[in-house]
Amino acid sequence: MPNESITITDNRTNHVYALPIENGTVRAMDLRQIKTDPEDFGLMTYDPAFMNTASCRSSVTFIDGERGILEYRGYPIEVLAEHCTFLEVAHLLLFGELPNETQLKDWTYEITHHTMVHETTKRFMEGFRHDAHPMALLVSTVAALATVYPEARDVHNPRIRLLQIKRLIGKMPSIAAMSYRHSLGFPYVYPDNDLSYTANFMNMLWRMVEPKYAANPVLERALDILFILHADHEQNCSASTMRSVGSSHADPYLATAAAAAALSGPLHGGANEEVLRMLDEIGSKDRVPGYIKEVKEGHGKLMGFGHRVYKNYDPRAKIIKWTAEKVFEVTGRNPKIEIALELERIALQDEYFIKRKLYPNVDFYSGIIYEAMGFKPEMFTVLFAIPRTAGWLAQWQEMIVDPEQKIGRPRQIYIGSRMREFVPIEKREAVSAKKA
Ligand code: CMC
Repeated sequence: MPNESITITDNRTNHVYALPIENGTVRAMDLRQIKTDPEDFGLMTYDPAFMNTASCRSSVTFIDGERGILEYRGYPIEVLAEHCTFLEVAHLLLFGELPNETQLKDWTYEITHHTMVHETTKRFMEGFRHDAHPMALLVSTVAALATVYPEARDVHNPRIRLLQIKRLIGKMPSIAAMSYRHSLGFPYVYPDNDLSYTANFMNMLWRMVEPKYAANPVLERALDILFILHADHEQNCSASTMRSVGSSHADPYLATAAAAAALSGPLHGGANEEVLRMLDEIGSKDRVPGYIKEVKEGHGKLMGFGHRVYKNYDPRAKIIKWTAEKVFEVTGRNPKIEIALELERIALQDEYFIKRKLYPNVDFYSGIIYEAMGFKPEMFTVLFAIPRTAGWLAQWQEMIVDPEQKIGRPRQIYIGSRMREFVPIEKREAVSAKKA
């Protein structure tokens, strides 16, 4: 057996097994040979919430959570945020390389020429209640795109896959902007393909009667940086959902809708909305110590804090903090930043947070920027979903062509009853709903 192996003694049988170690992992299927007798199913691993299980090999995004490092295709996030546009980064995530000038020109042309949504999609959106949550609107509308592009079901055809990728990246800002204007009761604005990806999104959000929308360059760049920071984050809840739904060969619109639904939860992308609600609830700087005390006593969580992978400062939160100051030079200072800074200052000195390695994550400061730009909290997760679509699609594409991948299908440890005797309805006892 080579050095890169592990020897396991099964104390039930005294049998010894040598299992290979590759990339710091053992294959869960190698454990199956460990049996008490030939009838035994074989050893499995139990890992609720996938705390210690790699589900794929990936070359898209690298995270070192202990050191606070994030790289897309090997490029540090700080470098990409400083030098690139979101569309360059989307190209990098999807195709593995930053585009050269000609490639970027072509890629930008391709994406901007897929920004328009079909009129039936517009009518579909008009059917939603005026006060529908924009994230629910976005999820439903992305799923509805599957009705417009039935050819998307052919997920094994690379040309068809690429077309849907372009459509999804192009249409996401249009659908997001339509969700926003729907909630305000304003007419939808058609895309303006002379504008950059981000400026066009701002145009579709905020243009009123002016003949041509001119985006403020500082805000346009800030939004583009936020898009870069949110573009991918390896096997998080929504990316795993994208892969899981995609593994059944469902079409990419339905898989993306499922991923966006996973993103919407308050423990994932929905946290940015919750951070703003928390800052509202705290209300002023002097109430921060009292709020932290309550959290430590088990009353709720400090939203925008903590991460499954980062046990250090989230590198994205650092860049967002810097970007916030740039935005405030244009919009004026959002007073909530003072409460957030105080929360961070106190939490980072507190034994409870130090011991558990809880630091601000990407969602802690992003909402403060969005609010300064004029967004309502309900829109924050929608703003997260736009760029993350590029990441989801990169993960999906990688999964589809990976010969090792099959339909995702975890195992369970069954702990319920077996072989019960059937009871006719007239003899059954009422079961309390609480027990169920
Ligand atoms: N405030 C207070 N305590 C916390 C927090 C928090 N935000 N996060 C974790 N803890 C505590 C938790 O109670 C537990 O304590 P104990 O050991 O005494 O039981 C310990 O820290 C470990 O936490 P965990 O729940 O086992 O950690 P997890 O990896 O399962 O959860 C998390 C990660 C992000 C869901 C969690 O930290 C959390 O709920 N944070 C607030 C929501 C949030 O900001 N989510 C955005 C995540 S980043 C962006 C994204 O994914 O979209």
